Amino acid sequence: MIKLNMKYKVIENHRTEYPNPLLLSQDEKVIIGEESGEDWPNWVFCTKLDKSNSGWVPKQIILYENDFGVIVENYSAKELDIDIGTIVEGIMQLNGWLWSKNMETSEIGWIPLEKMYFKEYVTKTEKDEEALSELIKQSWRSDIIVSRGKKYKVEDLEGILTYENGIIIGLGLYYIINGECEIVLLEALIQKQGIGTRIIEKIKEIAVTNKCKRLWLITSNDNIDAIKFYQRRGFCISNFYKNAMEESRKLKPEIPLIGEYEIPIRDEIEFEMEIYKTEGTSYNKR
Ligand SMILES: CC(C)(COP(=O)(O)OP(=O)(O)OC[C@H]1O[C@@H](n2cnc3c(N)ncnc32)[C@H](O)[C@@H]1OP(=O)(O)O)[C@@H](O)C(=O)NCCC(=O)NCCS
Repeated sequence: MIKLNMKYKVIENHRTEYPNPLLLSQDEKVIIGEESGEDWPNWVFCTKLDKSNSGWVPKQIILYENDFGVIVENYSAKELDIDIGTIVEGIMQLNGWLWSKNMETSEIGWIPLEKMYFKEYVTKTEKDEEALSELIKQSWRSDIIVSRGKKYKVEDLEGILTYENGIIIGLGLYYIINGECEIVLLEALIQKQGIGTRIIEKIKEIAVTNKCKRLWLITSNDNIDAIKFYQRRGFCISNFYKNAMEESRKLKPEIPLIGEYEIPIRDEIEFEMEIYKTEGTSYNKR
């Protein structure tokens, strides 16, 4: 269950098929019916013991007792009838649905998540760290991040995160020291939608606010896409460290030998953007 307090925009009208929603109290016993299919997993069709009403209930709040279930918390199956363009506040996300509050009427109910859209760029906080570590482990084989012979974990770094419908789809982690800002990790889980560019812009704003002389980062020799990406965003190559990956592998043995386009991962390339010099260049005017 993901708890939220974020605004979403409705992108498709929703009308409920259940105008008389099922309401259940904590510890109430229900008759267990069919389970939802793969498209909407983890919903169970339940009927009240007196058969006065039925509806879909999240599997997570049912304790099974043979053909019966005991409901572990008060529950409402109420769905919101809602039109495109309405702004709602998402309270909780569960099994593909959003428990939300219509900001205009204050009415509360479920809306299918696929009919909602929400994207925001936020500053990383402690509560993001568990999900971030997991994500980094999946993408980079370990939650340890190595850059120029230094080991970092998520909690050592500041960051800008892109959330789409409550899920992290972009991350930029940075470290400011001695008047320099290093982008230690940048990743867009959905690429070519402008997420990487926007995260860099936001980190650059922070570097400017912190009066950093430069923004810099390291990428490996195989990462041709990133090498293109950074140069297109106004970064220049500022250093080249031949065979530096040997040292990095001592700190993080999970770094593979072969990378993008079957290129051996060998060297580190440093990119930088001199903040004061780059102000007002074509990149900044874009
Ligand atoms: C490198 C990386 C962070 C770039 O992030 P991204 O979100 O894909 O970058 P953007 O979408 O901002 O820009 C990428 C390209 O998509 C284009 N683009 C952006 N929005 C677009 C859209 N709606 N339609 C079509 N193209 C679009 C951009 O113009 C850019 O092309 P250009 O460089 O020729 O100008 C991303 O590819 C990534 O996560 N790579 C894997 C991890 C990695 O290698 N990180 C860097 C390690 S140092």
